[in-house]
Amino acid sequence: MREDELKSAVRHRYGQLALTVLGGASASCCGTGTCEVITADLYAPEEAAALPQQALEVSLGCGNPTALAELREGETVLDLGCGGGIDVLLAAQRVGPAGKAYGLDLTDEMLALAEANKCASGLSNAEFLKGDMENIPLPDGSVDVILSNCVINLAADKDRVLREAFRVLKPGGRLAISDIVTRGAIPETVRRSVELWIGCLAGALDEADYRSRLAQAGFVDVRLEPTRIYQVEDLRQMATAAGIDPVAVPEVAGGGFFAAFISARKPAR
Ligand SMILES: C[S@@+](CC[C@H](N)C(=O)[O-])C[C@H]1O[C@@H](n2cnc3c(N)ncnc32)[C@H](O)[C@@H]1O
Repeated sequence: MREDELKSAVRHRYGQLALTVLGGASASCCGTGTCEVITADLYAPEEAAALPQQALEVSLGCGNPTALAELREGETVLDLGCGGGIDVLLAAQRVGPAGKAYGLDLTDEMLALAEANKCASGLSNAEFLKGDMENIPLPDGSVDVILSNCVINLAADKDRVLREAFRVLKPGGRLAISDIVTRGAIPETVRRSVELWIGCLAGALDEADYRSRLAQAGFVDVRLEPTRIYQVEDLRQMATAAGIDPVAVPEVAGGGFFAAFISARKPAR
């Protein structure tokens, strides 16, 4: 698929999901069924209690980057691919009124949902921007922390996203993202078919490749820690939810896909 086709497929898929939630139902990144193994139980009960119900219903991430990012009062944060804004609202609470939390998303319907969720939250230090994370609409050196939750795996040009993240970070700024990553030899047929049926896993990078791309973009202190490992039963459940014969997922795929918390830093000078 060409890059523009991929982007328009992503926009269409997430636009439909946002409309589903606006229509009163919960969303799932797997399209037709549930993707609970990826999205369930990511947030602590006290975090969930402080969020509008609709923000929780459109939680499509694979981790909880704001909890791990060590955000400080007064910081400026940018969430790449913010969806319905769940992590932006959590970040806005953590950085407080002296700080600012931006959310960037490609999809109009998701941004409409995010605005509604912001309104329901009563927070005034959150702001949603329309745009592509391959071309971030913020100036150089303007952000303390980049967050992202299960989005970079969707990018057509991941190196460009990482370069853009590096550009907008202040010297010494931090990257704190959750993403799906692969480990070990995933047979190409398995990788391709997994990508085909589960939007949330599409384009996942191998962990060593991820580290080296971050270093290539200029980041230092790169760390990548698994937060949830998907077993073959999980992958088969996701396949079933997506309408694919689970027998098509061989045993070898189990443990080869996992959610990770990835952190790195832009050098201070
Ligand atoms: C899997 S959802 C994750 C949403 C959110 N981070 C969360 O945890 O609920 C992916 C989101 O990324 C957005 N997205 C995908 N590609 C993007 C891009 N190139 N630039 C900006 N947003 C993008 C989609 O519109 C969608 O809202």
